[in-house]
Amino acid sequence: MKKIAVILGTSRPESYTSKALDVVLDEFARHDKIHVDLIDPTHLSLLFPGQDGDNKDQEKIQEIVTKADGIVFSTPEYHGSMSSVAKLIIENLSYPSVLADKPVVMMGVAAGSIGAIKTLEQLRGTLSHIGAIVLPFPVSVPRVHKVFNKDGTCNDETIESLLRGLADRLLEYIDG
Ligand SMILES: Cc1cc2nc3c(=O)[nH]c(=O)nc-3n(C[C@H](O)[C@H](O)[C@H](O)COP(=O)(O)O)c2cc1C
Repeated sequence: MKKIAVILGTSRPESYTSKALDVVLDEFARHDKIHVDLIDPTHLSLLFPGQDGDNKDQEKIQEIVTKADGIVFSTPEYHGSMSSVAKLIIENLSYPSVLADKPVVMMGVAAGSIGAIKTLEQLRGTLSHIGAIVLPFPVSVPRVHKVFNKDGTCNDETIESLLRGLADRLLEYIDG
């Protein structure tokens, strides 16, 4: 059984990032012997580094990532950057990071026509800095409000195929 940790980089209700991620999750569901853990910040209380409080959710996500064979990291583009929640998840994954040596595929969505290219480059820089193995060919979804309906259906066959390919690429890498 291969374990995949899928990170949703926003807690915005009904986010388009989660709609895009659902396609990736559906692709994993088509494969046998794959266990997926979704790290969804909507259901987590994550603290800033050094902040006092209950750190049980931090321990929970560290355990999920430590046990994972591969990671899907998704984020919306907020102000030309990864979301603050995405960065908070990274900061809660310890220093040195439990993401070190983990293969990671990245996905970003944006309202704008150039997509989340800048965001994904920043995310690649951060993940590489902490020692993750960032696989090539991240998926950037531009004009995401047109690509997905409110109910989450994808209107763009090319984007859907790219999102499914993200899951497949990670599994191929893990299988060697
Ligand atoms: C705080 C904030 C900042 C944003 N900044 C950008 C941006 O810089 N570029 C862009 O294309 N879209 C931007 N957007 C739009 C998001 O990319 C858009 O809402 C998209 O649906 C992805 O976010 P979601 O997963 O929260 O739905 C921003 C949205 C928010 C809430």
